[in-house]
Amino acid sequence: MLQVRNLSKSFPGVRALDNVSLDVAAGSVHALMGENGAGKSTLMRIVSGLDTADTGEVRCSGRIAMIHQELMPFRDLTVAENIFMGQEPTRRFGWLDKPAMHREAQRLLEHLGMTLSPARPMRELSVAQMQTVEIAKALARRAELLIMDEPTSAISEHEVEALFKIIRDLKQCGVAIIYISHKMDEIFRTADTVTVLRDGRHVATQPAAELDEAKLIALMVGRELSHAAGTAATTMVVAASVPDAVLEVRALTKPGKFHNINFALRRGEILGVAGLMGAGRTDLAHAIFGLAPAASGEILINGQPVRIRRPADALARGIALVSEDRKEFGLVPMMSLKHNITLASLRGWLIDHRAENRVADEQIRALSIKSHDRNQSVNTLSGGNQQKVVIAKSLLTAPAILILDEPTRGIDIGAKAEIHAIIGRLARDGKAVLLISSELPELLALSDRLLVMREGILTAELDPRRATQEEILQHAMPVSGE
Ligand SMILES: Nc1ncnc2c1ncn2[C@@H]1O[C@H](COP(=O)(O)OP(=O)(O)OP(=O)(O)O)[C@@H](O)[C@H]1O
Ligand SMILES: [Mg+2]
Repeated sequence: MLQVRNLSKSFPGVRALDNVSLDVAAGSVHALMGENGAGKSTLMRIVSGLDTADTGEVRCSGRIAMIHQELMPFRDLTVAENIFMGQEPTRRFGWLDKPAMHREAQRLLEHLGMTLSPARPMRELSVAQMQTVEIAKALARRAELLIMDEPTSAISEHEVEALFKIIRDLKQCGVAIIYISHKMDEIFRTADTVTVLRDGRHVATQPAAELDEAKLIALMVGRELSHAAGTAATTMVVAASVPDAVLEVRALTKPGKFHNINFALRRGEILGVAGLMGAGRTDLAHAIFGLAPAASGEILINGQPVRIRRPADALARGIALVSEDRKEFGLVPMMSLKHNITLASLRGWLIDHRAENRVADEQIRALSIKSHDRNQSVNTLSGGNQQKVVIAKSLLTAPAILILDEPTRGIDIGAKAEIHAIIGRLARDGKAVLLISSELPELLALSDRLLVMREGILTAELDPRRATQEEILQHAMPVSGE
């Protein structure tokens, strides 16, 4: 289906692809793996014709659709309009057949295990819902080569299963699928063949059946990691002390989002929040940070009730948020890497450029942000490296309370261990961390206590040293079964 021959691509200061070749067979799932910045998205952008190579050749015998890592929805259009963008069903004389469009959109979404009105404007959707719409859009295109760049980074377990079923169906119909993900279990469940890129070079192509996690990691990083990322995190988090609550939330309520939320977060503590997509965890984080304040209830900082109406209020109280949606709240895409890091922490009119450079460089080093120049614009970084910039930026505001919403989404396994280490270090330095994550192993390894949310309500507080993934899911799953 696809033949890539000797592809090279340079950007100022970096050789993103260096003589890469790749063959993808019809009816197969081909995984593309590699650390953040390895060149995966660049390669796929060239294959799908969005970017051009410096040298080399791409031959494809079918229609290509790509689900992008950075979602680019048209926020003011409806779900159905986004799905059928540029190929809307028409009646005679080319008139738009809106009922047909809505019916078909509905069918595709249901097929993906999602109940969502096709008439809803995109802007109202969560990141997870947008991602599902993106998948529906690719299906509507009836592509023969389907490229998925981290399609499951924001969707819940339930939708991941639906997606895997669709991948199996598409395979049967002879569709070739290129699947990019940092999640090992997904690779071993879906892929027939695995190709590994490292620093823009092709390292290996092997049948998935001949690989295991350790081999794959070794190929990706070019050395054996001494511990698996997850276990490194476990040993690092020492039991936190038991001092007073720095953040307390009492009866916090926002109709339709969350109801009667109560918890206390102490100095030096990592409080995990588990839950399925749509459980209200991000809404809760946004309420505490002042992006979308709650309707009733109280927020106390160091025992004092405070009003948080906008993010500036939260920042002034020492609260920082690492948002799951870095496009919307996290980064200024056209601005330099340096400015994105230092932006939130700059004070006063006089900026000491030398100090700014030093601070930026420190963060770039501390988080191993893969870049060639602190002045390069941040949208030229790979997806995972952009996420690290969001974290660096928040850390610099020297918050006492740090809310992390899916901090390791899209981050490769090595960098994930680094970020886990950083979170552990922050807690040991006395910061209070509220950690929202969909990755249960991450929550279990890092949290001192673990809250579970379901449909806007706190359903359990668990001891992560004893809780199992099954137990967490029991408290997180809707009771009705829908
Ligand atoms: N438009 C651009 N200008 C400059 N450099 C770029 C541009 N696009 C990509 N790069 C660089 O090319 C390299 C490969 O990036 P790419 O996005 O392909 O990585 P990736 O493998 O998809 O990583 P991730 O897992 O983080 O998504 C990186 O060093 C990145 O900074
Ligand atoms: Mg990428």
